[in-house]
Amino acid sequence: MPTPPDTGKVLLVGAGPGAADLMTVRALRAVQGAQALLYDALVPDEILALAPAGCLRIQTGKRAGKASMKQETINRLMLRLALRGRTVVRLKGGDPSVFGRSGEERAFLEAHGVAVEVIPGVTAASAAAAQFGFPLTHRGEARRVAFATARVQDGAVVEEGWAALADAQTTVALYMARDAAAAVAGRLIGAGRAPDTPAVAVENAGRADARLIGASLADLPAALAAAAPEGPVVLVIGEAVAQARAAGAGQPLRASA
Ligand SMILES: C[S@@+](CC[C@H](N)C(=O)[O-])C[C@H]1O[C@@H](n2cnc3c(N)ncnc32)[C@H](O)[C@@H]1O
Repeated sequence: MPTPPDTGKVLLVGAGPGAADLMTVRALRAVQGAQALLYDALVPDEILALAPAGCLRIQTGKRAGKASMKQETINRLMLRLALRGRTVVRLKGGDPSVFGRSGEERAFLEAHGVAVEVIPGVTAASAAAAQFGFPLTHRGEARRVAFATARVQDGAVVEEGWAALADAQTTVALYMARDAAAAVAGRLIGAGRAPDTPAVAVENAGRADARLIGASLADLPAALAAAAPEGPVVLVIGEAVAQARAAGAGQPLRASA
């Protein structure tokens, strides 16, 4: 069926890690021009308030006790709104291309004749690195960065892929791993990563209430359990992480090797 000529479009927009001033100017303009805004749980009210008064706001992520919307429902909703001629902004935490389902959403919408534009955002690992003074790459120490997830399936950490993260010159940024730190550390050490590799967990990266939990890879699970973070957490593991320091502090938490 041909797409009606007045079909709107969908913008998949990265809101960054949760502070409005970490959004790109392009993302800000997209939110200010939205006619319908579908937003994830990690997007704060400060950013939602940037949308125009008449904009339809729909929460899609788990917030204030409400359940998350199913991906299929979100897809259908975006499609319906775009076919009614609306400019739809799908606002996601961080960068839509990093564990943000931008590929699935783009494929669905384009298959139905709706134009899609992706506007990038600052991903959690970049915000964490900037805020706590460590780089993700470092000449001679960290030649690669891997964005990875430890997402569990049926209650167990996914087994495959850990060998690819064992290389000592790879900085590993692990998303959705807050409650699986022990399993992650075990898999990485089992794959050959040194137990004393510098490792941090950063809670609420990019926000004023961000917290750095520093340790070695072997000690990270205990440090994380003691800190008991409730906000989103990104784990960053690798030699470059030795440069991490408390926000505003002059010296790294531990000396670089
Ligand atoms: C579904 S993924 C989305 C990632 C997001 N697209 C990004 O680029 O940051 C959600 C995970 O991202 C990480 N995350 C998102 N925002 C964060 C923040 N402000 N601080 C630390 N980790 C964060 C956590 O690991 C969380 O479980």
